[in-house]
Amino acid sequence: MDNLISELEILREPEGEACETFHVTKDHSTGNNRKLYIESYGCQMNFSDSEIVASILQKNGFDTTSDITEADVVFLNTCSIRDKAEQTVRHRLMHIHGLKKHKPEMLVGVLGCMAERLKSKLLEEEKIVDLVAGPDAYRDLPNLIAQVDDGNKAVNTFLSREETYGDIEPVRLNSNGVTAFISIMRGCDNMCSFCVVPFTRGRERSRDPESIVAEARQLFDNGFREVTLLGQNVDSYKWSADENNKARLEKVGLTNVVTFAHLLERVALVHPDLRVRFSTSHPKDITDEVLHTMARHDNICKFIHLPLQSGSTRVLGLMERGYSREWYLGKVQRIKEILGDECALSSDMIAGFCSETEEEHQETLTLMDEVKYDFAYMFYYSERPGTLAAKKYKDDISDAVKKRRLEEIIVKQRQHAVLRNQQEVGKVHRILVEGNSKRSADFLQGRNSANKVFVFPREHFQKGQYVNVLAEDCTGGTLVGKAVDY
Ligand code: SAH
Ligand code: SF4
Ligand code: F3S
Repeated sequence: MDNLISELEILREPEGEACETFHVTKDHSTGNNRKLYIESYGCQMNFSDSEIVASILQKNGFDTTSDITEADVVFLNTCSIRDKAEQTVRHRLMHIHGLKKHKPEMLVGVLGCMAERLKSKLLEEEKIVDLVAGPDAYRDLPNLIAQVDDGNKAVNTFLSREETYGDIEPVRLNSNGVTAFISIMRGCDNMCSFCVVPFTRGRERSRDPESIVAEARQLFDNGFREVTLLGQNVDSYKWSADENNKARLEKVGLTNVVTFAHLLERVALVHPDLRVRFSTSHPKDITDEVLHTMARHDNICKFIHLPLQSGSTRVLGLMERGYSREWYLGKVQRIKEILGDECALSSDMIAGFCSETEEEHQETLTLMDEVKYDFAYMFYYSERPGTLAAKKYKDDISDAVKKRRLEEIIVKQRQHAVLRNQQEVGKVHRILVEGNSKRSADFLQGRNSANKVFVFPREHFQKGQYVNVLAEDCTGGTLVGKAVDY
């Protein structure tokens, strides 16, 4: 058993923001004659956007391929969140430059957040880039490709206040056929001082709830059993048939406004066997109404990604996060009151933000001790040009100190992850089967409501089924068990 666990641990891929990993589109043939290859970096929003890009281009003569050498068009859907993410893409562009020597007619384009941040600089500096399109310009791609076909370079980095791609049915390219992402809003109005997203993704706007519910229903009818509602700050989702503009909504005080809690409920009502997840919640915006909605519906998963960033009230102030240490802890308390301890919590942490003292770093560690997160994404601060922090504060913590603080955070999180999983051993969990375990086809893999990964012997069970599994052993990343009658 120990051996199985350690191998599973190594093989488990991180989820969510994973700028160091990327997805490649799978082959999807509909008889079109040109081939599109896309690599996606960054967060789930980007992966979800690539499916929209594939859908738009499928209607314009392109099928997708997973083999870059047979592609007519190569797109990198890029991320700017940290410098390392941008460097990864730059290295990849250099590699593609090598390939293009053998196939000069191959069109190379940069999409996503780096496109927005660097705009036409990419065309000038990286001579191999033919096309640059920001996150709101994907409807224009057929036209941009035509411009390149005519021998020109093409760029569109216009950021829209309305675009939600609500009417576009994504081509599910990297799907396991069981779980899918649904984008419910775009952009972000928060302006956390460290963050480049408001500059790369533009103003916040929400997608028509009818199109979201219809997409969830269609996914269920096609055999999917879990949807994750995606947005940079899902709790500020707001939509009215009269005016889909948050600022104006607040001003004119329109009634019949659909909030995130309403939307969550409507998606949960699509079918009791359709699990609903959502990400990301902002601690300052998640409401009791959302928590009560989660409590009312068994199929809304008991898992909240509630990024903390820092445990120090002073640092949170510099970050413009809009809450203090105490306020955050109060929110965690409220979650426990309404949803109980089985609601799992995860977080994002930034080590070594501008002027962070040793004591303030310790406050992050002590807050982690209080909450004991089930899971966390952990980073050291990376200054992003143009952000408030870059303009106002000095990036004055040395790399060595940033890395040491990050390591301390990671060590603590590892202990908590094991502890939290150990609490689940001996209990029976309802697992949605997502497919084979990565190590062996004799084992299946799935998750419980709290987003914990389980592995158990296949027996006669199938992908897409719910199975009751008794947890028998665990590491920080995986629980191992066996199916039981319940
Ligand atoms: N909208 C989400 C986060 C999107 S970015 C939210 O508000 O939680 C994902 C994570 O990347 C952030 O939560 C933060 O922890 C990290 N991040 C963002 N900018 C960063 C930077 N400049 N340096 C290091 N980490 C950063
Ligand atoms: Fe960035 Fe803050 Fe918006 Fe998240 S909420 S995307 S961290 S500005
Ligand atoms: Fe990266 Fe853009 Fe997402 S910066 S994290 S791909 S919103």
